[in-house]
Amino acid sequence: MSKRHRIKFDRKEERDLAQDEAYFYVVEDGDERRIRFHDYDEIYKRNGLYEQLFYERLQCSSPTKVAEILKRTLDAGEQSTLELRVLDLGAGNGMMGEALRAHGVSRMVGADIIEEAREAAHRDRPGAYDEYYVADFTALDAGMKAELESWSFNCLTLVAALGFADIPVEAFREAINFVQDDGWIAFNIKETFLDDSDRSGFSRFIRELIFSEYLDLHHLERYRHRLSMEGEPLFYFALVARKTADIPEDFMAARPTR
Ligand SMILES: C[S@@+](CC[C@H](N)C(=O)[O-])C[C@H]1O[C@@H](n2cnc3c(N)ncnc32)[C@H](O)[C@@H]1O
Repeated sequence: MSKRHRIKFDRKEERDLAQDEAYFYVVEDGDERRIRFHDYDEIYKRNGLYEQLFYERLQCSSPTKVAEILKRTLDAGEQSTLELRVLDLGAGNGMMGEALRAHGVSRMVGADIIEEAREAAHRDRPGAYDEYYVADFTALDAGMKAELESWSFNCLTLVAALGFADIPVEAFREAINFVQDDGWIAFNIKETFLDDSDRSGFSRFIRELIFSEYLDLHHLERYRHRLSMEGEPLFYFALVARKTADIPEDFMAARPTR
């Protein structure tokens, strides 16, 4: 049974904060403790807090959305999810593992950069993952690379984990390259990252990649990822693509600047 927490928002102060700077208070033993949305270690340590904050209060729908469009895409191509050997990067406490298990997959492997995520996944969703690695995908050692390759992944999922100082493009590229050619890549991304007016390196990489020869786009859908603390909808794109080939290290260097 997960615990109920007392959560408070400070709407006045929060208004002008970027999505990754947002914070809330959790009231514990009479004390108000300030926690940033991105202090995942602090959130995961408290059983049920992640679900209460993001999934109940802010109505996040992303793991079910990304799992559902992946399933629909496979159904359309008469391929079964039961064939999937999935790497779920930025797996956190296992929401995506659980969502995909519900559709039935062959293998489900989680990975995250912090140990607290693995511990929370084992605590909150035992059995969701066949294996769960704590690793930094921008600096994988040879042993970890060999271990990951041994799973022969044919699917990569990343949910609510790209951008905003979470998974950098280099780690994303590395993770895609663990997926076999013709394998599936399913993720979500804030809608503004696909907007041409966003000239950040991250945004440009994502746009170039989606429409590059390395991915065949099968499904792109705009949907409400969650509510902001002010109750406004935050829109994201959920996307399923098929990988055609490994993405070279100099992928961006070889692209014309637009
Ligand atoms: C918002 S949570 C999403 C968790 C889960 N996918 C879900 O949908 O509930 C983002 C997760 O990405 C992880 N993360 C951030 N940077 C990362 C990195 N460089 N490599 C792997 N995981 C990372 C965080 O630790 C956190 O667990």
